[in-house]
Amino acid sequence: MNWDVPLFDLNFDAAEEAAALAVIRSGWLTQGETVAEFERAFAERIGSRFACAVSSGTAGIHLAAHALGLGPGDEAILPSLTFVATANTVVQTGATPVFADVESFDRPLLDATDVERKITARTRAIVAVHYAGHPCDMAALGELARRRHFHLIEDCAHAPLAEWDGRKAGTFGAAGVFSFFSNKNLSTGEGGMIVTGDAALAERLRLLRSHGMTHQTLDRHQGHAFDYDVVEPGFNYRFDEIRAAIGLVQLGKLEGNNARRAECAARYRALLRDVEWIRIPFQAESAGRGVHHIFPVVLADGAPPRERLMLSLRERGIQTSIHYRPVHDFSCYRRRYPTDDESLPVTSALAPRLLTLPLYPALTAAQQGRVAEALRACVRSS
Ligand SMILES: Cc1ncc(COP(=O)(O)O)c(C=O)c1O
Repeated sequence: MNWDVPLFDLNFDAAEEAAALAVIRSGWLTQGETVAEFERAFAERIGSRFACAVSSGTAGIHLAAHALGLGPGDEAILPSLTFVATANTVVQTGATPVFADVESFDRPLLDATDVERKITARTRAIVAVHYAGHPCDMAALGELARRRHFHLIEDCAHAPLAEWDGRKAGTFGAAGVFSFFSNKNLSTGEGGMIVTGDAALAERLRLLRSHGMTHQTLDRHQGHAFDYDVVEPGFNYRFDEIRAAIGLVQLGKLEGNNARRAECAARYRALLRDVEWIRIPFQAESAGRGVHHIFPVVLADGAPPRERLMLSLRERGIQTSIHYRPVHDFSCYRRRYPTDDESLPVTSALAPRLLTLPLYPALTAAQQGRVAEALRACVRSS
């Protein structure tokens, strides 16, 4: 469809084109010096000691959880209000996902109090998701993980440069995992990054990212090694030079893009202030500074049915989405890991009311005005 206001739009220009072309012309495409440079630059920007680039955010969460030793018989506690990858990756380690609720309609982020309620003798990890780019309460979750000796993994897919109490998301837990999927704040098409402050974990992540091999193709190409050993069965979760080159350009734009997203979010809040059937989360003061990956609103009482709103906006060329149908509600999760809706009261009440409006750095005031007008028109016509 040719949207007048798409849900998301890339901020790519001649700089990304030139970076990709330079790699193509260099003749070396797979993981090499550019990946290493991107890792160094990303780690520095996040304020983490180590970064390990991987083929996707999903690969990153799986690799981190596997490298931390999560496996059969273990439980990991995570929110149900997340993209399914957060839970699928726990399942792929052989561990059992246990869903915890979010705090409130106004802060739909993993609730440390409910996490504590869901702890059992088998709990080994907490996966915190900085939903929509807004950081969870990392003081509470960090303290809980330390006290109970749980691994804390941060799913930072939405949250590059988000902060809690002045410290970047991704640096609180054993590992923080970012996604560079096309619609993310930093896009390379597909890709991800794991950050950690733990040298031994970083070493293990690097090894397992590439089959558990002690030397890589680049080492052999450079004449540094003729042979390799495999010390543990690993994966092929490598990143590549073309995407690393694009990632470096995107990293340079990240702060500016995040600032423009914040301006757009502020404009939506002003435009929709008087619409009493729309409630906008993440407005209360907290120690968090979000990076506005997406702009979910809550359809309060008196709102038109969500599907009618989405259809009506579509007729006006405006794309909307839903983030997310809760993971525990998907058929395979209902079958394999049955979770009562009543055990997740906020998530269950909130999810059917969520609607995501378009948000990206180049979104114009005029486009946002059309979105607000289309929302109002839907009520007038009902
Ligand atoms: C919250 C969350 N976690 C994990 C992922 C997985 O990232 P990727 O698409 O790079 O595998 C995503 C991607 O959309 C996400 O939104």
